[in-house]
Amino acid sequence: MMSRFVSLLALVAIAQAAVIVPGATWTDTSGNAIQAHGGGILKVDSTYYWHGEDKAHNSGSFRAVSCYTSNDLVSWTRQNDALTPISGTMISTSNIVERPKVVYNRNTGEYVMWFHSDSSNYGAAQVGVAVARSPCGPFTYRSSFKPFGADSRDMGLYQDGDGSAYLLYASDNNQNFKISRLDQNYYNVTTTVSTLPGSTLEAPGIIKRNGVYHLFASHTSGWDPNPNKYYKANSLSGPWSAEADIAPQATRTYFSQNTFDLPLSSNSAIYMGDRWRPSLLGSSRYMWLPLSWSSGNPQIVQADVWSVNLAAGTYSVATGTTYEAENGTRSGNSTLMSGSSFSGGRAVGYLGNGGTLTINNVQGTGQPQWVALHYANGDSTWRNTTVSVNGGTPVLVDQPNTGGGGVVLSVPVKLNLRSGANTLAFSVSQNNYAADLDKIIVYTAT
Ligand SMILES: *[C@@H]1O[C@H](CO)[C@@H](O)[C@H](O)[C@H]1NC(C)=O
Ligand SMILES: *[C@@H]1O[C@H](CO)[C@@H](O)[C@H](O)[C@H]1NC(C)=O
Ligand SMILES: *[C@@H]1O[C@H](CO)[C@@H](O)[C@H](O)[C@H]1NC(C)=O
Ligand SMILES: *[C@@H]1O[C@H](CO)[C@@H](O)[C@H](O)[C@H]1NC(C)=O
Repeated sequence: MMSRFVSLLALVAIAQAAVIVPGATWTDTSGNAIQAHGGGILKVDSTYYWHGEDKAHNSGSFRAVSCYTSNDLVSWTRQNDALTPISGTMISTSNIVERPKVVYNRNTGEYVMWFHSDSSNYGAAQVGVAVARSPCGPFTYRSSFKPFGADSRDMGLYQDGDGSAYLLYASDNNQNFKISRLDQNYYNVTTTVSTLPGSTLEAPGIIKRNGVYHLFASHTSGWDPNPNKYYKANSLSGPWSAEADIAPQATRTYFSQNTFDLPLSSNSAIYMGDRWRPSLLGSSRYMWLPLSWSSGNPQIVQADVWSVNLAAGTYSVATGTTYEAENGTRSGNSTLMSGSSFSGGRAVGYLGNGGTLTINNVQGTGQPQWVALHYANGDSTWRNTTVSVNGGTPVLVDQPNTGGGGVVLSVPVKLNLRSGANTLAFSVSQNNYAADLDKIIVYTAT
């Protein structure tokens, strides 16, 4: 069964889309799943470079820092690896290389990469530095070290408009978060400009907007998601405002962790998060979502499917057609559930193990379409559901845990709906429980 699902998913993923679909399997222009976890974006002229961790081996150990290029942030082409293992050093295949970030040093003409450099048990707590003459390198490894002799784990880089650059890092056993200025070469730290004591922050990014620095970061909860925060200050040396949420707390940042924040316009940006899957690291997904300042403060905009207009600096959230699960036909043990977090106050539970749901008259275009499943999974582990279109081979869709309290999240699946009416059957012949299904939204944007 497994291989049938996988090949079907692979087939479905081939069509290149102009939309951003958070949580889907993103493929590069060769059709391979993008491996650029914990990544960062560097723009050179009109080209975006995405450096990240290649976790295709489903292991935490170092395999490569990948480099992808794009002109639209949607279609990505894999280039040569930017950094590869060197045995006998801190970047051997038995060590950890995470969260690579690259900045260009206009004084030296070098591209400088900083990354979290660690031993396999995360005991070394260092940063690593590598340099290159081009954005994808390959980079030449310089060294790994503890900045000022102190820990550095999950980190980011920020380059200010005046060319100064900063290391943003979880230090002192992840208790204190620090911002330290880099030297002229960007090879070392020179002064610590800010310390947020006891803040337990990691996975940071900074956006400067109208002269105000916005620091984005998660708290520390291992691979599990938590409500990511923002802080504001008029100077990188602070004082920083009290922490505030960038998304409804219960969603735990839509099951993701910040890795980079990319400005789009004076009023919007892109939150780039990772949806980590520690049991299958290479299948961790990218959660890129619009960040809007329309309320005055940065807030993530929930979007199943969206697009960005880079020239205009705008984004657009796709609208789709909603079909409520409670409107479908239940069979077996599936039941109607009530809950204030469900749209219409209802969802369908006990799907799987004999419980099924059929939704009729789902209108399709005849082209592959994104369908978002809005669901609640109160377990501490992931569930999954199958969906069969017009009696066809079931497609498996993973359903990350959503936390307690009936929190509803969504996961996308690309389905081949025929033009006109379709029948979608959930959890047919499924021998495990699926999550409670609240509704599905069918999109036409591809
Ligand atoms: C960074 O600077 C400190 C203080 O000057 C020095 O002790 C250390 O060796 C430098 N590290 C690197 C990697 O250059
Ligand atoms: C659900 O069913 C009701 C009554 O049959 C109908 O009025 C409504 O449009 C349906 N809504 C959705 C979103 O399925
Ligand atoms: C419903 O659940 C019961 C017990 O949980 C199980 O024995 C039975 O087989 C289920 N029914 C169906 C149709 O799967
Ligand atoms: C589906 O989820 C169940 C847990 O509900 C898990 O045991 C099973 O391995 C998953 N199946 C696949 C194919 O991932």
